[in-house]
Amino acid sequence: ILCIRAPCLACRVCSINVYRIQLAVSLEEGAGGGGGKPQAAVASWLAGGGRGAVRGAGPAAHPGGSDRYSLKIQPVEKMHLAVVACGERLEETMTMLKSAIIFSIKPLQFHIFAEDQLHHSFKGRLDDWSFLQTFNYTLYPITFPSENAAEWKKLFKPCASQRLFLPLILKEVDSLLYVDTDILFLRPIDDIWSLLKKFNSTQIAAMAPEHEEPRIGWYNRFARHPYYGKTGVNSGVMLMNMTRMRRKYFKNDMTTVRLQWGDILMPLLKKYKLNITWGDQDLLNIMFFHNPESLFVFPCQWNYRPDHCIYGSNCQEAEEEGIFILHGNRGVYHDDKQPAFRAVYEALRNCSFEDDNIRSLLKPLELELQKTVHTYCGKIYKIFIKQLAKSVRDRYARSPKEK
Ligand SMILES: *[C@@H]1O[C@H](CO)[C@@H](O)[C@H](O)[C@H]1NC(C)=O
Ligand SMILES: *[C@@H]1O[C@H](CO)[C@@H](O)[C@H](O)[C@H]1NC(C)=O
Ligand SMILES: *[C@@H]1O[C@H](CO)[C@@H](O)[C@H](O)[C@H]1NC(C)=O
Ligand SMILES: *[C@@H]1O[C@H](CO)[C@@H](O)[C@H](O)[C@H]1NC(C)=O
Ligand SMILES: *[C@@H]1O[C@H](CO)[C@@H](O)[C@H](O)[C@H]1NC(C)=O
Repeated sequence: ILCIRAPCLACRVCSINVYRIQLAVSLEEGAGGGGGKPQAAVASWLAGGGRGAVRGAGPAAHPGGSDRYSLKIQPVEKMHLAVVACGERLEETMTMLKSAIIFSIKPLQFHIFAEDQLHHSFKGRLDDWSFLQTFNYTLYPITFPSENAAEWKKLFKPCASQRLFLPLILKEVDSLLYVDTDILFLRPIDDIWSLLKKFNSTQIAAMAPEHEEPRIGWYNRFARHPYYGKTGVNSGVMLMNMTRMRRKYFKNDMTTVRLQWGDILMPLLKKYKLNITWGDQDLLNIMFFHNPESLFVFPCQWNYRPDHCIYGSNCQEAEEEGIFILHGNRGVYHDDKQPAFRAVYEALRNCSFEDDNIRSLLKPLELELQKTVHTYCGKIYKIFIKQLAKSVRDRYARSPKEK
């Protein structure tokens, strides 16, 4: 347990067995103090599990002559991450969760929706990581509104439409990052989470475009339903302010009345059932076509897919800053079609949580990537490790166990 050098009052707080709390220590002047303005305010991260630092907290927390202190403890805002795992997705999902844990700074709350037969394995694997104390998880069964359960289950891939119901199931959760199982975080979740604060007053969710290059775009060439923007949006990485999603009344092309999230899904499915190809992602595209002011569009390096490089590079932001979130859709982590994607997946899958192990993942990965330069994605392999290398450096710099 780390403890700031501060009055005893604070020390007592440190002993509370909470893994990571944000201490907002405001030192106020005591009796008779006119304005009662805080003399100093210290906010610092306390971290267990060998991570995080309390740099600078010690000296600043000294009272400097005040005779009374008030101490406010606010629990750190947790970042909520949801995933839906069905079929043979255990290993892939665990690798995604591992990448989230390795680089993220604030504590994580995982919401894992999985078929019943996977629960036991998830529990076993996640409990093996509980020594980290940087995350918590809840496992949920796949559930649908009962009257239409069968219809929802067969839409798109089994279970994929579960995600549409998250705002209704996780009623107590304000905001959530939903990701597909084939996502890898190459930088802290904190960074995408911070985009929530950039939403303007009408935005409720954030996604990346489905394509950068309309000539190879799917929606603009083939869709038989409305879709958002020029090329549609991809729902594999979806950041949501669910408080706003639950409150909003959505414009739609079914009635002149605006409908809430819970009331719009089934009529939408009924209307477009025969015309949709990509299931729930198509429904989201239809929704945001009618309510474009509600969507925050983030750039392609937050949801980087084979489409961004298989016919030549078309995600300019990733070329400049590197890939932030890798999305190996089309099964590319598990076959030989896009070896650059597979190399990153295997490097993270092989990695453990020890600092040295994480640092030493880069060199062999780079060697693997150099073997992929015969592919279009491999030609620009540097963008696969640019941000990753920085995240590894930053993580090491945060670690108090510097050598
Ligand atoms: C995880 O959840 C348990 C109980 O649900 C709670 O006591 C604990 O503080 C939580 N840990 C973190 C890191 O949030
Ligand atoms: C479905 O597609 C057909 C053929 O393109 C089109 O005529 C029809 O209007 C579409 N249905 C809806 C609900 O958009
Ligand atoms: C989500 O929106 C609600 C309502 O506008 C707001 O109170 C809340 O702070 C937002 N959450 C985040 C994480 O920005
Ligand atoms: C919020 O941003 C979206 C997308 O740029 C825009 O369509 C919408 O009008 C903005 N809302 C407000 C209130 O400015
Ligand atoms: C990951 O481990 C497997 C088997 O343990 C090994 O064959 C492979 O080369 C490793 N890959 C990387 C990128 O470290």
